[in-house]
Amino acid sequence: MAFRDVAIRVFFLLLVVSAAYAKDKEEKKDEKKDEKTEGAASEADGTYDITKLGAKDDGKTDCTKEVEEAWASACGGTGKQTIVIPKGDFLTGPLNFTGPCKGDSVTIKLEGNLLASNDLAKYKANWIEIMRVKNLAITGKGTLDGQGKAVWTKNSCAKSYDCKILPNSLVLDFCDDALIEGITILNSKFFHLNIYECKGVTVKDVTVTAPGDSPNTDGIHMGDSSKVTIMDTKIGVGDDCISIGPGSKEVNISGVTCGPGHGISVGSLGRYKDEKDVTDVTVKNCVLKGSTNGLRIKSYEDAKSPVVASNFHYENVQMDDVGYPIIIDQKYCPNKICTSKGDSARVTVKDVTFTNITGTSSTPEAVSLLCSDKKPCEGVTMNDVKIEYTGKNNKTMAVCTNAKVTAKGVDKANSCDA
Ligand SMILES: *[C@@H]1O[C@H](CO)[C@@H](O)[C@H](O)[C@H]1NC(C)=O
Ligand SMILES: *[C@@H]1O[C@H](CO)[C@@H](O)[C@H](O)[C@H]1NC(C)=O
Ligand SMILES: *[C@@H]1O[C@H](CO)[C@@H](O)[C@H](O)[C@H]1NC(C)=O
Ligand SMILES: *[C@@H]1O[C@H](CO)[C@@H](O)[C@H](O)[C@H]1NC(C)=O
Repeated sequence: MAFRDVAIRVFFLLLVVSAAYAKDKEEKKDEKKDEKTEGAASEADGTYDITKLGAKDDGKTDCTKEVEEAWASACGGTGKQTIVIPKGDFLTGPLNFTGPCKGDSVTIKLEGNLLASNDLAKYKANWIEIMRVKNLAITGKGTLDGQGKAVWTKNSCAKSYDCKILPNSLVLDFCDDALIEGITILNSKFFHLNIYECKGVTVKDVTVTAPGDSPNTDGIHMGDSSKVTIMDTKIGVGDDCISIGPGSKEVNISGVTCGPGHGISVGSLGRYKDEKDVTDVTVKNCVLKGSTNGLRIKSYEDAKSPVVASNFHYENVQMDDVGYPIIIDQKYCPNKICTSKGDSARVTVKDVTFTNITGTSSTPEAVSLLCSDKKPCEGVTMNDVKIEYTGKNNKTMAVCTNAKVTAKGVDKANSCDA
């Protein structure tokens, strides 16, 4: 066979093949079009009411399927997408709201109540987990009810260091520009709201409620996130009202009322290896009421790797019968379950300012700066700190170890130099 002949045959074959391929593509395109119109699932600027998808508002019928269907439609549509949860009680198991979504934004209008199933076998990790979604909003006067009361006894974290954790109620993972506004988050099985690897989260006019003795029911926890704003929010829970974990930066908290609870805490830090620093935290115009701690920074003495906690600014905070109103604790070790000491890595705490912190404490230790001898706290400034112990059997005091403090307008009883 001549070379030329072969070349022509190959050329011809290629033509046939590519024509067939093009036709196949056309058909596939048509199929896709059909799928879209027949499914009637997603549209531009869609609104999906879960009751129109068949969800029953009796608080007993499992509505997981209907809610996830609403999510799939909203997340798959273009423009502004809305999911409506109208008045009524809707029971669901775990809800997996994973993006990225196609449109500009997804808003969940929560007017009714979502109730979390108490069948723990249904959960892999969390109840409502929203992942990789940009411009998400959850707004309304409704409630996310974790129904934790029935399962809190199954929490073993007070006894074991590596306990199995119960489902968190609302989790935002890798979500940029999120808004949670107006809603109530009630009786979570574990944390109420957990923010992880997000940038730009606003929590506004939210109520977070669980009994003071419910285990590990932190109000709002954040980690590896930046530009988090929490404002005009009321939190009463069984653990930290707000906990600011490793890797948090540019956090603004204002107009928050905390209590019962363990206070507004940075940390704990140093429990895990390779934790990132915590910097630029502002807590302003807040009230702590009957909480076990007020403004707290806590870190393990036996940190797994070095971490820096710096640039904290606390201002205009009212303490009302708070256990330890101002406390930096570099020897944090809950339930004495820390691993043994030794010459491990350290957590640095520096540049912390307390301005206009006033009110009462329920223990004599209005101020506790328990810094480590190997890493004393640096750059602690106190201006206008006046906290008084309300009990009669002792006097107000500041307990300080290894802390260098610059003070102005501080009550003698609150001063480390006293
Ligand atoms: C959640 O949904 C995403 C995408 O639909 C899927 O990849 C992921 O495995 C699901 N996660 C769980 C915990 O079911
Ligand atoms: C936080 O508050 C500070 C001071 O009030 C302000 O300068 C900063 O822009 C705020 N940051 C965010 C992310 O809201
Ligand atoms: C101090 O903080 C309280 C709130 O705790 C506020 O009412 C008061 O105006 C603040 N004082 C100054 C001088 O800013
Ligand atoms: C007063 O309080 C301090 C700090 O809590 C404590 O060490 C001390 O024993 C108390 N004194 C009395 C008389 O109770």
